[in-house]
Amino acid sequence: MAFRLSHLSLALSLVALALAGVAIYRNTYDAMMNKGLLQNVSPDFGLLESTASILTLNKNAERNSDKLNQQLTPEQCVFSAVRGVVDSAIDAETRMGASLIRLHFHDCFVDGCDGGILLDDIAGSFQGEQTSPPNNNSARGYEVIAQAKQSVKDTCPNISVSCADILAIAARDSVAKLGGQTYNVALGRSDARTANFTGALTQLPAPFDNLTVQIQKFSDKNFTVREMVALAGAHTVGFARCSTVCVSTNVNPAAQLQCNCSATLTDSNLQQLDTTPAVFDKVYYDDLNRNQGILFSDHELTVNTTTASVVTTYSNDLNVFLGDFAAAMIKMGNLPPSPGVQLEIRDVCSRVNPTSVASM
Ligand SMILES: *[C@@H]1O[C@H](CO)[C@@H](O)[C@H](O)[C@H]1NC(C)=O
Ligand SMILES: *[C@@H]1O[C@H](CO)[C@@H](O)[C@H](O)[C@H]1NC(C)=O
Ligand SMILES: *[C@@H]1O[C@H](CO)[C@@H](O)[C@H](O)[C@H]1NC(C)=O
Ligand SMILES: *[C@@H]1O[C@H](CO)[C@@H](O)[C@H](O)[C@H]1NC(C)=O
Ligand SMILES: *[C@@H]1O[C@H](CO)[C@@H](O)[C@H](O)[C@H]1NC(C)=O
Ligand SMILES: *[C@@H]1O[C@H](CO)[C@@H](O)[C@H](O)[C@H]1NC(C)=O
Ligand SMILES: *[C@@H]1O[C@H](CO)[C@@H](O)[C@H](O)[C@H]1NC(C)=O
Repeated sequence: MAFRLSHLSLALSLVALALAGVAIYRNTYDAMMNKGLLQNVSPDFGLLESTASILTLNKNAERNSDKLNQQLTPEQCVFSAVRGVVDSAIDAETRMGASLIRLHFHDCFVDGCDGGILLDDIAGSFQGEQTSPPNNNSARGYEVIAQAKQSVKDTCPNISVSCADILAIAARDSVAKLGGQTYNVALGRSDARTANFTGALTQLPAPFDNLTVQIQKFSDKNFTVREMVALAGAHTVGFARCSTVCVSTNVNPAAQLQCNCSATLTDSNLQQLDTTPAVFDKVYYDDLNRNQGILFSDHELTVNTTTASVVTTYSNDLNVFLGDFAAAMIKMGNLPPSPGVQLEIRDVCSRVNPTSVASM
């Protein structure tokens, strides 16, 4: 990494330094150096309550190397910790699954999977992606990611996992829990020390985007038209806010929605995006095929013979959709951060590390 700092990063570093005295977190870089130590030595995850007990058990484990192969690796510990938190969150509110899938999508589509969307604004000095119009008041699940990060830190010592990785795992687990096909999430993403308000506005597909614009935005991320139609299938779960569907340019005129905004456009009444919003099925494509897609952007997928034929393919065969979706999610999860952006493994997902020698 170059020693050059952007103005934004410099401002952030200064703010972070000011915060350093208040928030003293154990830096996980030391731990990373020792990552190798824990290969195959984590004991049964279900038994572990605290870091202290893990440390004790691991010492025992080192002495009992015969048993090591039956135990969780550090990565397995991470996957297990995140899944536990995601499962509970979706059990408490099914809609959270869709929200976590969207959060990962909105992370990766803006300057790569860099955890940028997780950075809170800092009044007066930093405006990130959270308040950019595609995310403001609609991106949700930040607290679930924070809990998952904490659970990983508490239960999986000596492995350092980025917030971008945790988002990727949480999205995958959400897909699987709602009935989609699971897929492998490779770890190793880094978190950016900045975020991109304008990037969120211009890079993310919008509900009012026509097909031409959608194809361009996905092609900018190296997705094929087929992969684009597959990823749009994420709308098989979840809801749009009334403030989205009460704007006519955002909706399919044929869907004949009740606007459902009782008062203002910040109203949080919801419109389900397909007829089965809690199930990761193919009904979204069935709806599109009978001209009952909710969003204008969804409906646009049926106006071109190329995209319409993909819609029909998925409507005809759930497993083809699920397989294509999983493959496209893996590809999306590999979108790299912008060149030159400073990277780190964030200790707290909502803010950059107070000091980050390793990233400079
Ligand atoms: C984790 O790493 C620290 C050094 O950063 C080391 O002191 C500790 O023993 C390691 N824990 C385990 C369980 O290996
Ligand atoms: C985000 O939404 C709030 C209302 O919750 C609004 O006051 C604010 O202006 C919005 N920010 C941007 C950048 O649009
Ligand atoms: C932020 O987004 C804009 C618009 O997409 C893009 O031109 C710029 O390169 C992005 N900045 C970074 C640091 O990636
Ligand atoms: C799609 O939208 C873009 C941006 O609004 C516009 O320039 C273009 O003419 C539209 N294309 C079609 C085919 O409607
Ligand atoms: C798309 O692919 C090109 C050519 O391989 C590469 O240079 C570019 O960085 C890729 N874009 C993204 C967003 O990954
Ligand atoms: C309208 O919003 C209310 C309150 O959120 C919800 O119960 C109802 O199902 C919504 N109606 C439609 C048609 O989406
Ligand atoms: C449909 O989209 C394809 C790109 O997949 C494009 O080549 C073709 O021109 C489009 N056809 C129409 C009628 O817009």
